[in-house]
Amino acid sequence: MKLLVTGGCGFIGSHFVRLALARHRDIRLVNVDRLTYAGRGRNLADIERDSRYCFLKADVASSAMFQILHRHRPDAVVNFAAESHVDRSIHCAADFLKTNTLGVQNLLDAARAAGVRRFVQISTDEVYGSISGSGRARENAPLLPSSPYSASKAAADLCCLAAHRTHGQDAVITRCTNNYGPYQFPEKMIPLMITNALHDIPLPVYGDGQQRRDWIHVEDHCRGIFLALEKGTAGGIYNFGMGSEPPNLMIVLEILKILGKSETLIRHVKDRPGHDRRYAVDTTKARKELGWTPLMNFERGLAATVEWYRENTAWWLRLKDAAFRKFYRQNYGRPS
Ligand code: NAD
Ligand code: DAU
Repeated sequence: MKLLVTGGCGFIGSHFVRLALARHRDIRLVNVDRLTYAGRGRNLADIERDSRYCFLKADVASSAMFQILHRHRPDAVVNFAAESHVDRSIHCAADFLKTNTLGVQNLLDAARAAGVRRFVQISTDEVYGSISGSGRARENAPLLPSSPYSASKAAADLCCLAAHRTHGQDAVITRCTNNYGPYQFPEKMIPLMITNALHDIPLPVYGDGQQRRDWIHVEDHCRGIFLALEKGTAGGIYNFGMGSEPPNLMIVLEILKILGKSETLIRHVKDRPGHDRRYAVDTTKARKELGWTPLMNFERGLAATVEWYRENTAWWLRLKDAAFRKFYRQNYGRPS
């Protein structure tokens, strides 16, 4: 099989590229990435020399995608490329719409023109919006995005479904909950809290910290995506998640405990505007139709992730010093 992956130098994409090449000997893989602040070739340093792998720098929203897809003619496209951080979308939404929505329409058109058999769109549980009570969103739940990020992703999902209905294009959508694990950019909550704690910088908890997310290890998500690619129904949507939702504050306390740091590092800061209180998805369809099941228990996965950031300071320190520190100072002032 020949795969074209976009955004393969980012967090989830790099894990997917590594998993696809490790598990499937007959795969050839083209990775297209624009290398934004969140994408690093270094994330795939271990597979750069694999003869089955090739990297191309390009923007998914550009006309170059027509030439690339025409030249490589993959069997399938798996689209990870996105602006992925909710807080950034609140400050400046335009890039999110360009990459996450127009980029997806552009890729769908280019894939169709090149006769690509399947298009897998990596979406998010955020498209369902905040889920009240103890309910869980099924794949047919209404789309109620709260942030410019989730609105741009919901719009992309609709573009995929429209391409399926209008052109008969084979598109599959995956909607996963919050991922964690190695190589996650230190602006996202878990790596931000770990790296701040390692530096004894205050840990900024939004509002009361009682918001709930369903954290899943990135490798469990990637296995689900591969199953959706192989076994998913055309026009189908598949939720992935663990089914447990620890409040943010509990995770922050656990990170401090693992690192042996003081709880006095916690700072309750101004809440994120439009902050969704709870995400929760029903994963019955993925389990039944794809035979997917998550393997990594959260406590074990979190401890291993903390260890990875402790051991790989060189990977994140520079990122923290440049983009993160600027963003941090703009929003919270000088770290004390
Ligand atoms: P990330 O920000 O770590 O990586 C995004 C990658 O896309 C980077 O390598 C970046 O360079 C690349 N990119 C951005 N704009 C591009 C463009 N215009 N053209 C080509 N490449 C471009 O993101 P992530 O956390 O790995 O998320 C990957 C996908 O999974 C996204 O679509 C996101 O919406 C989705 N998702 C993420 C999570 C999560 O918890 N992180 C959960 C569910 C779904
Ligand atoms: O649910 C899937 C989504 O998960 C993905 O689609 C997004 O790409 C990904 O970024 C993530 O979005 P979140 O907004 O949930 O992730 P983030 O790590 O930014 O925040 C997780 C929770 O932690 C959220 O309730 C906000 C809170 N938070 C976050 C940061 C960065 C804090 O309390 N303090 C912080 O400094």
